[in-house]
Amino acid sequence: MIRGAIAAALALAGCGGEAAAEPAAPASIAAPPPEPPAPSPELVLRERARLVLESRCGQCHIGAYDSAIPGALAVFDLAELEWDARLTAEQLDDLNVRMERDLGPDGEALGVTPEDRATIAEYVAAAHARRGDPAPAE
Ligand code: HEC
Repeated sequence: MIRGAIAAALALAGCGGEAAAEPAAPASIAAPPPEPPAPSPELVLRERARLVLESRCGQCHIGAYDSAIPGALAVFDLAELEWDARLTAEQLDDLNVRMERDLGPDGEALGVTPEDRATIAEYVAAAHARRGDPAPAE
């Protein structure tokens, strides 16, 4: 039954007799650009972590803001595609610590939610695994 419906749909879609009769469009117009590959789960996770950090830490760690601090950007700049490229293993762990404490640099609460913490913890674990960092000493 379903197979029959699909076959019928395919037959309908395929019966482009008129279209086929038209001269082929130049390849540059006819060929759609190739689909970009789906982002890896790790990239998706890094972007989710970026969103969390942007809202909590962006004031100083987003290079495009007037309020950004050079010393903070030297550690990580969320405006960069690979914002985590310069983070050391210790600084990665520090992301978790700061999210756990929910304390800004001046001791102010940042409004960190359990979901924020979970996202950052998941991201940090994946980043360590990708880099092949040794497991932290407990
Ligand atoms: C008010 C500005 C400001 C905010 C907000 C801020 N930071 Fe920073 N951060 C800095 C500065 C400046 C540095 C450079 C090192 C220093 O002077 O402490 C830094 C350094 C760091 C470091 C490296 C620390 C080290 O010892 O190597 C980490 C990790 C970090 N910040 C994470 C965060 C996270 C996570 C948040 C949000 C929860 C955040 N920061 C919010 C200003 C800020």
